[in-house]
Amino acid sequence: MKKEQVVQCQLSVWYPLFRKHTIRSIVLPLPQNVIDYLLDDGTLVVSGRNEVPNSSYANEGSEEEQDVQWSDDEDVATLVAPEFPDFAAQVQEAINSLGGSVFPKLNWSAPRDAQWIAMNGSLKCNNLSDIFLLLKGSDFVTHDLTQPFLHCTDDSPDPKIDTQLVLRKWCELIPGGEFRCFVKENKLIGITQRDHTQYYDHVCSQEANILSSIIDFFKDQVQYKFLDEDFVFDVYRDSQSKVWIIDFNPFGEVTNSLLFSWEELTSGQNISKGDHADLDAPVFRYITSEMTVQPSPYLSYRLPKDFVDLSRGEDAHKLIDFLKLTRNQDPESSDEDGQ
Ligand SMILES: Nc1ncnc2c1ncn2[C@@H]1O[C@H](COP(=O)(O)OP(=O)(O)O)[C@@H](O)[C@H]1O
Ligand SMILES: [Mg+2]
Repeated sequence: MKKEQVVQCQLSVWYPLFRKHTIRSIVLPLPQNVIDYLLDDGTLVVSGRNEVPNSSYANEGSEEEQDVQWSDDEDVATLVAPEFPDFAAQVQEAINSLGGSVFPKLNWSAPRDAQWIAMNGSLKCNNLSDIFLLLKGSDFVTHDLTQPFLHCTDDSPDPKIDTQLVLRKWCELIPGGEFRCFVKENKLIGITQRDHTQYYDHVCSQEANILSSIIDFFKDQVQYKFLDEDFVFDVYRDSQSKVWIIDFNPFGEVTNSLLFSWEELTSGQNISKGDHADLDAPVFRYITSEMTVQPSPYLSYRLPKDFVDLSRGEDAHKLIDFLKLTRNQDPESSDEDGQ
Protein backbone atom coordinates (compact mmCIF):
# COMPACT_ATOMS: atom_id res chain seq x y z
CA MET A 1 0.00 0.00 0.00
CA LYS A 2 1.35 3.40 -1.04
CA LYS A 3 1.02 6.70 0.83
CA GLU A 4 -0.75 8.15 -2.19
CA GLN A 5 -3.50 5.52 -1.85
CA VAL A 6 -4.09 6.56 1.75
CA VAL A 7 -4.22 10.24 0.73
CA GLN A 8 -6.91 9.50 -1.87
CA CYS A 9 -9.14 7.75 0.65
CA GLN A 10 -9.65 10.90 2.74
CA LEU A 11 -13.30 11.90 2.60
CA SER A 12 -12.38 15.44 1.60
CA VAL A 13 -10.59 14.05 -1.49
CA TRP A 14 -13.24 11.61 -2.79
CA TYR A 15 -16.37 13.47 -1.66
CA PRO A 16 -16.37 16.10 -4.46
CA LEU A 17 -16.19 13.27 -7.05
CA PHE A 18 -19.05 11.21 -5.61
CA ARG A 19 -21.21 13.84 -3.94
CA LYS A 20 -24.39 12.70 -5.72
CA HIS A 21 -24.00 9.11 -4.52
CA THR A 22 -23.14 9.55 -0.88
CA ILE A 23 -24.42 10.98 2.40
CA ARG A 24 -24.34 14.78 2.67
CA SER A 25 -21.25 15.84 4.62
CA ILE A 26 -19.40 18.92 5.82
CA VAL A 27 -15.63 19.03 6.28
CA LEU A 28 -14.15 21.39 8.88
CA PRO A 29 -10.42 21.95 9.43
CA LEU A 30 -9.40 20.95 12.96
CA PRO A 31 -7.51 23.79 14.69
CA GLN A 32 -4.20 22.76 16.28
CA ASN A 33 -5.42 23.46 19.83
CA VAL A 34 -8.37 21.10 19.29
CA ILE A 35 -6.00 18.41 17.96
CA ASP A 36 -3.83 18.87 21.07
CA TYR A 37 -6.89 18.55 23.28
CA LEU A 38 -7.97 15.34 21.51
CA LEU A 39 -4.52 13.81 21.95
CA ASP A 40 -4.12 14.83 25.58
CA ASP A 41 -4.66 11.67 27.57
CA GLY A 42 -4.89 13.51 30.85
CA THR A 43 -8.04 15.41 29.98
CA LEU A 44 -10.98 13.46 31.22
CA VAL A 45 -13.32 16.39 31.17
CA VAL A 46 -15.26 16.81 27.98
CA SER A 47 -15.20 20.23 26.45
CA GLY A 48 -17.71 21.82 24.13
CA ARG A 49 -20.69 21.85 26.43
CA ASN A 50 -22.77 24.70 25.15
CA GLU A 51 -24.49 25.33 28.43
CA VAL A 52 -21.33 26.13 30.41
CA PRO A 53 -19.44 28.81 28.55
CA ASN A 54 -16.30 29.55 30.49
CA SER A 55 -15.14 33.04 29.68
CA SER A 56 -11.65 32.62 31.14
CA TYR A 57 -10.75 30.14 28.38
CA ALA A 58 -12.70 31.80 25.66
CA ASN A 59 -9.78 33.46 23.90
CA GLU A 60 -9.15 30.81 21.30
CA GLY A 61 -5.59 30.21 20.23
CA SER A 62 -4.04 31.28 23.50
CA GLU A 63 -1.28 29.17 25.02
CA GLU A 64 -3.06 28.29 28.21
CA GLU A 65 -6.21 26.83 26.72
CA GLN A 66 -4.23 24.04 25.10
CA ASP A 67 -3.89 22.42 28.47
CA VAL A 68 -6.31 21.42 31.08
CA GLN A 69 -6.58 24.08 33.72
CA TRP A 70 -6.23 23.24 37.38
CA SER A 71 -7.41 25.93 39.70
CA ASP A 72 -5.06 25.98 42.68
CA ASP A 73 -6.92 28.47 44.80
CA GLU A 74 -8.79 25.71 46.56
CA ASP A 75 -7.63 22.69 48.50
CA VAL A 76 -9.30 20.37 46.03
CA ALA A 77 -8.23 21.09 42.49
CA THR A 78 -11.03 21.20 39.96
CA LEU A 79 -10.51 20.15 36.39
CA VAL A 80 -11.83 22.60 33.85
CA ALA A 81 -12.29 21.60 30.23
CA PRO A 82 -10.87 23.94 27.62
CA GLU A 83 -13.37 25.75 25.44
CA PHE A 84 -13.15 26.45 21.72
CA PRO A 85 -15.88 28.99 21.06
CA ASP A 86 -15.16 29.74 17.38
CA PHE A 87 -14.77 26.10 16.48
CA ALA A 88 -17.83 25.17 18.56
CA ALA A 89 -19.90 27.73 16.65
CA GLN A 90 -18.75 26.34 13.29
CA VAL A 91 -19.56 22.79 14.38
CA GLN A 92 -23.01 23.76 15.66
CA GLU A 93 -23.80 25.57 12.43
CA ALA A 94 -22.75 22.50 10.43
CA ILE A 95 -24.82 20.19 12.63
CA ASN A 96 -27.87 22.42 12.19
CA SER A 97 -27.48 22.53 8.44
CA LEU A 98 -27.24 18.72 8.35
CA GLY A 99 -30.57 18.35 10.11
CA GLY A 100 -29.56 18.38 13.79
CA SER A 101 -27.81 14.99 14.15
CA VAL A 102 -24.50 13.92 12.66
CA PHE A 103 -22.11 11.00 12.30
CA PRO A 104 -18.55 12.26 13.09
CA LYS A 105 -15.24 11.07 11.70
CA LEU A 106 -11.78 12.43 10.94
CA ASN A 107 -10.00 12.28 7.55
CA TRP A 108 -10.41 8.47 7.39
CA SER A 109 -11.86 6.96 10.53
CA ALA A 110 -14.98 7.09 12.63
CA PRO A 111 -14.69 6.49 16.40
CA ARG A 112 -16.50 3.12 16.16
CA ASP A 113 -14.32 1.69 18.94
CA ALA A 114 -15.61 4.35 21.35
CA GLN A 115 -19.31 3.89 20.65
CA TRP A 116 -19.89 2.23 24.03
CA ILE A 117 -18.78 5.42 25.81
CA ALA A 118 -21.60 7.54 24.37
CA MET A 119 -24.61 8.14 26.58
CA ASN A 120 -26.90 6.91 23.80
CA GLY A 121 -24.58 4.00 22.93
CA SER A 122 -24.43 5.27 19.36
CA LEU A 123 -22.30 7.48 17.12
CA LYS A 124 -25.23 9.87 16.66
CA CYS A 125 -24.12 13.32 17.85
CA ASN A 126 -26.15 16.46 18.42
CA ASN A 127 -23.43 18.81 19.69
CA LEU A 128 -19.70 19.27 20.06
CA SER A 129 -19.45 17.62 23.47
CA ASP A 130 -21.03 14.42 22.07
CA ILE A 131 -18.41 14.53 19.30
CA PHE A 132 -15.47 15.21 21.63
CA LEU A 133 -16.47 12.36 23.96
CA LEU A 134 -16.29 9.89 21.07
CA LEU A 135 -13.18 11.31 19.40
CA LYS A 136 -11.23 11.42 22.67
CA GLY A 137 -12.17 7.85 23.51
CA SER A 138 -11.17 6.36 20.17
CA ASP A 139 -7.93 4.60 19.20
CA PHE A 140 -9.06 4.66 15.56
CA VAL A 141 -9.13 8.47 15.70
CA THR A 142 -5.71 8.56 17.39
CA HIS A 143 -4.40 6.47 14.47
CA ASP A 144 -5.69 9.12 12.01
CA LEU A 145 -4.04 11.86 14.08
CA THR A 146 -0.70 10.23 14.72
CA GLN A 147 0.18 7.50 12.20
CA PRO A 148 -2.04 7.56 9.11
CA PHE A 149 0.73 6.04 6.93
CA LEU A 150 1.59 3.23 9.35
CA HIS A 151 1.35 0.28 6.94
CA CYS A 152 2.62 2.03 3.82
CA THR A 153 5.49 0.36 1.99
CA ASP A 154 7.02 3.36 0.17
CA ASP A 155 9.65 5.28 2.11
CA SER A 156 9.02 8.70 0.58
CA PRO A 157 8.39 11.50 3.10
CA ASP A 158 4.85 11.50 4.49
CA PRO A 159 2.52 13.71 2.43
CA LYS A 160 1.25 16.73 4.32
CA ILE A 161 -2.19 16.14 5.76
CA ASP A 162 -4.68 18.76 6.92
CA THR A 163 -6.52 17.18 9.81
CA GLN A 164 -10.25 17.50 9.36
CA LEU A 165 -13.45 16.87 11.25
CA VAL A 166 -16.02 15.34 8.93
CA LEU A 167 -19.66 15.66 9.87
CA ARG A 168 -22.13 13.51 7.93
CA LYS A 169 -25.88 13.78 8.10
CA TRP A 170 -27.11 11.07 10.47
CA CYS A 171 -28.89 8.24 8.63
CA GLU A 172 -30.43 5.15 10.20
CA LEU A 173 -28.57 2.47 8.26
CA ILE A 174 -29.64 -1.16 8.58
CA PRO A 175 -26.44 -3.21 9.08
CA GLY A 176 -27.69 -5.97 6.74
CA GLY A 177 -27.73 -3.43 3.87
CA GLU A 178 -24.00 -2.65 4.08
CA PHE A 179 -21.41 -4.29 1.82
CA ARG A 180 -17.66 -3.89 1.30
CA CYS A 181 -16.30 -4.09 -2.25
CA PHE A 182 -12.69 -4.82 -3.26
CA VAL A 183 -11.36 -3.33 -6.48
CA LYS A 184 -8.03 -4.41 -7.94
CA GLU A 185 -6.70 -2.88 -11.16
CA ASN A 186 -10.10 -1.28 -11.67
CA LYS A 187 -11.83 -4.65 -11.53
CA LEU A 188 -14.41 -5.48 -8.84
CA ILE A 189 -13.08 -8.77 -7.48
CA GLY A 190 -14.94 -9.30 -4.21
CA ILE A 191 -17.98 -8.19 -2.24
CA THR A 192 -18.62 -9.08 1.39
CA GLN A 193 -21.34 -8.42 3.89
CA ARG A 194 -19.94 -5.55 5.98
CA ASP A 195 -21.31 -6.78 9.30
CA HIS A 196 -19.71 -10.20 9.19
CA THR A 197 -20.92 -11.12 12.67
CA GLN A 198 -24.57 -11.75 11.76
CA TYR A 199 -26.66 -13.88 9.48
CA TYR A 200 -29.13 -11.83 7.42
CA ASP A 201 -32.07 -13.64 5.91
CA HIS A 202 -32.60 -11.11 3.12
CA VAL A 203 -28.96 -11.26 1.99
CA CYS A 204 -29.36 -14.97 1.37
CA SER A 205 -32.73 -14.70 -0.31
CA GLN A 206 -31.80 -11.66 -2.46
CA GLU A 207 -28.25 -12.66 -3.30
CA ALA A 208 -28.61 -12.24 -7.07
CA ASN A 209 -30.35 -8.85 -6.81
CA ILE A 210 -27.79 -7.49 -4.38
CA LEU A 211 -24.93 -8.67 -6.54
CA SER A 212 -26.31 -7.18 -9.75
CA SER A 213 -27.23 -3.83 -8.19
CA ILE A 214 -23.72 -3.47 -6.76
CA ILE A 215 -22.04 -4.51 -10.02
CA ASP A 216 -24.18 -2.05 -12.02
CA PHE A 217 -23.47 0.73 -9.56
CA PHE A 218 -19.74 0.02 -9.74
CA LYS A 219 -19.70 0.06 -13.54
CA ASP A 220 -21.84 3.19 -13.89
CA GLN A 221 -20.57 5.34 -11.06
CA VAL A 222 -17.27 4.16 -9.58
CA GLN A 223 -15.09 2.31 -12.10
CA TYR A 224 -12.32 4.57 -13.52
CA LYS A 225 -13.71 7.52 -11.52
CA PHE A 226 -11.81 6.94 -8.31
CA LEU A 227 -8.26 8.36 -8.34
CA ASP A 228 -6.62 4.96 -7.92
CA GLU A 229 -6.99 1.56 -9.55
CA ASP A 230 -6.78 -0.43 -6.32
CA PHE A 231 -9.23 0.49 -3.55
CA VAL A 232 -11.96 -0.76 -1.28
CA PHE A 233 -15.34 0.96 -1.20
CA ASP A 234 -18.25 0.50 1.18
CA VAL A 235 -21.83 0.75 0.00
CA TYR A 236 -25.32 0.78 1.42
CA ARG A 237 -28.22 -0.73 -0.49
CA ASP A 238 -31.43 0.93 0.66
CA SER A 239 -34.93 -0.51 0.77
CA GLN A 240 -35.55 0.69 -2.82
CA SER A 241 -32.42 -1.20 -3.96
CA LYS A 242 -30.63 2.09 -4.57
CA VAL A 243 -26.91 1.88 -3.84
CA TRP A 244 -25.04 4.60 -1.94
CA ILE A 245 -21.32 5.07 -1.24
CA ILE A 246 -20.48 5.10 2.45
CA ASP A 247 -16.69 5.24 2.31
CA PHE A 248 -13.48 4.55 0.37
CA ASN A 249 -10.59 2.69 2.03
CA PRO A 250 -7.04 1.77 1.02
CA PHE A 251 -6.55 -1.62 -0.66
CA GLY A 252 -4.35 -3.18 2.01
CA GLU A 253 -3.96 -4.46 5.55
CA VAL A 254 -5.29 -1.30 7.26
CA THR A 255 -8.70 -2.12 5.82
CA ASN A 256 -10.53 -5.07 7.34
CA SER A 257 -10.97 -7.73 4.66
CA LEU A 258 -13.97 -9.17 6.57
CA LEU A 259 -15.04 -12.48 4.95
CA PHE A 260 -11.98 -12.52 2.67
CA SER A 261 -8.32 -12.65 3.65
CA TRP A 262 -5.79 -10.14 2.35
CA GLU A 263 -3.69 -13.02 1.20
CA GLU A 264 -6.34 -14.21 -1.24
CA LEU A 265 -7.24 -10.67 -2.35
CA THR A 266 -3.64 -9.76 -3.20
CA SER A 267 -2.21 -13.11 -4.28
CA GLY A 268 -3.17 -12.68 -7.91
CA GLN A 269 -4.90 -16.05 -7.87
CA ASN A 270 -8.48 -15.99 -8.93
CA ILE A 271 -10.44 -15.83 -5.68
CA SER A 272 -13.51 -17.20 -7.35
CA LYS A 273 -11.90 -20.63 -7.61
CA GLY A 274 -14.18 -22.95 -5.75
CA ASP A 275 -16.65 -20.18 -4.97
CA HIS A 276 -18.58 -19.58 -8.17
CA ALA A 277 -18.25 -20.68 -11.75
CA ASP A 278 -18.33 -17.25 -13.46
CA LEU A 279 -14.72 -16.06 -13.39
CA ASP A 280 -15.53 -12.52 -14.46
CA ALA A 281 -18.11 -11.78 -11.78
CA PRO A 282 -16.91 -10.67 -8.35
CA VAL A 283 -17.10 -13.22 -5.56
CA PHE A 284 -19.90 -12.39 -3.14
CA ARG A 285 -19.39 -13.70 0.40
CA TYR A 286 -21.99 -13.57 3.13
CA ILE A 287 -22.91 -15.53 6.23
CA THR A 288 -25.10 -18.40 5.17
CA SER A 289 -26.41 -19.74 8.46
CA GLU A 290 -27.16 -18.58 11.96
CA MET A 291 -24.64 -21.07 13.30
CA THR A 292 -21.70 -18.91 12.24
CA VAL A 293 -22.67 -15.78 14.17
CA GLN A 294 -19.58 -14.27 15.81
CA PRO A 295 -19.14 -11.83 18.71
CA SER A 296 -18.96 -8.14 17.89
CA PRO A 297 -15.43 -7.19 16.79
CA TYR A 298 -15.63 -4.08 18.96
CA LEU A 299 -16.05 -5.99 22.24
CA SER A 300 -12.31 -5.86 22.89
CA TYR A 301 -12.40 -2.06 22.94
CA ARG A 302 -14.95 -1.97 25.71
CA LEU A 303 -14.42 -1.63 29.44
CA PRO A 304 -15.72 -4.35 31.77
CA LYS A 305 -19.45 -3.88 32.33
CA ASP A 306 -18.87 -3.07 36.02
CA PHE A 307 -16.78 -0.04 35.07
CA VAL A 308 -19.42 1.22 32.70
CA ASP A 309 -22.19 0.76 35.26
CA LEU A 310 -20.10 2.59 37.85
CA SER A 311 -19.29 5.47 35.53
CA ARG A 312 -22.93 5.92 34.63
CA GLY A 313 -24.12 5.47 38.21
CA GLU A 314 -26.62 2.92 36.98
CA ASP A 315 -26.07 0.38 39.72
CA ALA A 316 -26.04 1.90 43.21
CA HIS A 317 -25.00 -1.38 44.85
CA LYS A 318 -21.90 -1.62 42.70
CA LEU A 319 -21.04 1.97 43.55
CA ILE A 320 -21.34 1.31 47.28
CA ASP A 321 -19.15 -1.81 47.00
CA PHE A 322 -16.60 0.16 44.99
CA LEU A 323 -16.48 2.97 47.54
CA LYS A 324 -16.00 0.46 50.36
CA LEU A 325 -13.21 -1.18 48.41
CA THR A 326 -11.34 2.07 47.74
CA ARG A 327 -11.83 3.17 51.35
CA ASN A 328 -10.27 -0.04 52.61
CA GLN A 329 -7.32 0.31 50.25
CA ASP A 330 -6.63 3.97 50.96
CA PRO A 331 -3.54 4.20 53.22
CA GLU A 332 -4.80 7.57 54.52
CA SER A 333 -8.06 6.15 55.77
CA SER A 334 -8.02 5.24 59.47
CA ASP A 335 -7.78 1.51 59.79
CA GLU A 336 -10.31 0.00 62.04
CA ASP A 337 -7.88 -2.55 63.46
CA GLY A 338 -5.24 0.11 64.11
CA GLN A 339 -2.44 -1.28 61.91
N1 LIG B 1 -24.05 9.17 8.09
C1 LIG B 1 -24.16 8.08 8.85
N2 LIG B 1 -25.21 7.95 9.71
C2 LIG B 1 -25.30 6.85 10.48
N3 LIG B 1 -24.44 5.82 10.48
C3 LIG B 1 -23.39 5.89 9.64
C4 LIG B 1 -23.19 7.01 8.79
N4 LIG B 1 -22.06 6.82 8.06
C5 LIG B 1 -21.58 5.62 8.45
N5 LIG B 1 -22.37 5.05 9.38
C6 LIG B 1 -22.16 3.74 10.04
O1 LIG B 1 -20.87 3.71 10.59
C7 LIG B 1 -20.08 2.66 10.03
C8 LIG B 1 -18.66 3.14 9.81
O2 LIG B 1 -18.66 4.22 8.89
P1 LIG B 1 -17.43 4.54 7.98
O3 LIG B 1 -17.64 5.87 7.38
O4 LIG B 1 -17.19 3.41 7.05
O5 LIG B 1 -16.25 4.64 9.06
P2 LIG B 1 -14.85 3.89 9.08
O6 LIG B 1 -14.16 4.25 7.80
O7 LIG B 1 -14.15 4.42 10.28
O8 LIG B 1 -15.15 2.43 9.19
C9 LIG B 1 -20.81 2.28 8.75
O9 LIG B 1 -20.61 0.91 8.49
C10 LIG B 1 -22.24 2.60 9.05
O10 LIG B 1 -22.87 1.52 9.72
MG1 LIG C 1 -13.64 3.41 6.14
